Amino acid sequence: MSANDLQNRLIATAADIETMLENLLSSQSLPGEYPRPDRLLAAMRHACLAGGKRLRPFLLIETARLFDLQGHGIMRAACALELVHCYSLVHDDLPAMDDDDLRRGRPTVHKAFDEATAILAGDSLLTLAFDIMGDEPTHADPLIRAKLVTGLARHAGLGGMAGGQMLDLQAEQSPHPLDQDQILRLQAMKTGALLLFAVEAGGLISKASAYEMQCLAAYGRALGAAFQIADDILDMEGSAQQLGKRAGKDAERNKATLVAILGIDQAKARLNDLVEEAVNALTPFGARASILQDTARFTAARNH
Ligand code: IPE
Ligand code: IPE
Ligand code: MG
Ligand code: MG
Ligand code: MG
Repeated sequence: MSANDLQNRLIATAADIETMLENLLSSQSLPGEYPRPDRLLAAMRHACLAGGKRLRPFLLIETARLFDLQGHGIMRAACALELVHCYSLVHDDLPAMDDDDLRRGRPTVHKAFDEATAILAGDSLLTLAFDIMGDEPTHADPLIRAKLVTGLARHAGLGGMAGGQMLDLQAEQSPHPLDQDQILRLQAMKTGALLLFAVEAGGLISKASAYEMQCLAAYGRALGAAFQIADDILDMEGSAQQLGKRAGKDAERNKATLVAILGIDQAKARLNDLVEEAVNALTPFGARASILQDTARFTAARNH
């Protein structure tokens, strides 16, 4: 598959995800809900619609496809994961966190609305994600649904993404720069955890064997690490125009990144090693894994 084919596939999946998110974020209440407040819904829609690479849903969907599975339930699980990602971005951009004004080429939620609305939009996206993940149409087997919900909670929370965000903010204020292992841990949590969960969820839905899960997890971990290094390199080398978010902000805020402690050339070398690691982790799946392997390459080569 050429880089162009992968791009087209990413674009097609992103369009499908967009359509489903549009439906999930409609003004139509779910059974048991009071009417959805317009302003909160508008803020959630601002955070989730029209933008984003949709890489986490793509990984979940393509991992399931590796096992010849696709369909509505898988799309729902993919959307649930994207909602958690979107919530993490809304909160990441808040003045109390990274204080950013631009996201996906548009004003951040607290700029377009206000801070309290942005906090509540994040809260509501996170809870909606669990609503979708745990509800019947996502998977016929209640045990799989329970595992998906628990997995998402573990990767998003205290010992996962939110925990990593805490370490990221603490590192900004630390008088001693973090060492490489500490940065790798921080990044595995703040960014790696949700990317790892994307492939683990795909495996879970497909009832992958323990060995297959091990291979998928090795791939997900390497890809997650690569993804954040690429984000840090883009912050250094990219432009707001290209990224849809402000560039050069990590150095300004004293962020703990591998680029900061290793320099750009060594960070790029590390990125290439991680991509190779991700690609090799899927060798046991043979040619069927080429889309996921290309996705790892895309992670490093992307320009936004
Ligand atoms: C940005 O994630 C935040 C990080 C975890 C580094 P993405 O680069 O996947 O952002 P979108 O979803 O495409 O906007
Ligand atoms: C964000 O990392 C990670 C999460 C949102 C959990 P960054 O702070 O580097 O992401 P950007 O650069 O603002 O997208
Ligand atoms: Mg941040
Ligand atoms: Mg940020
Ligand atoms: Mg960044």
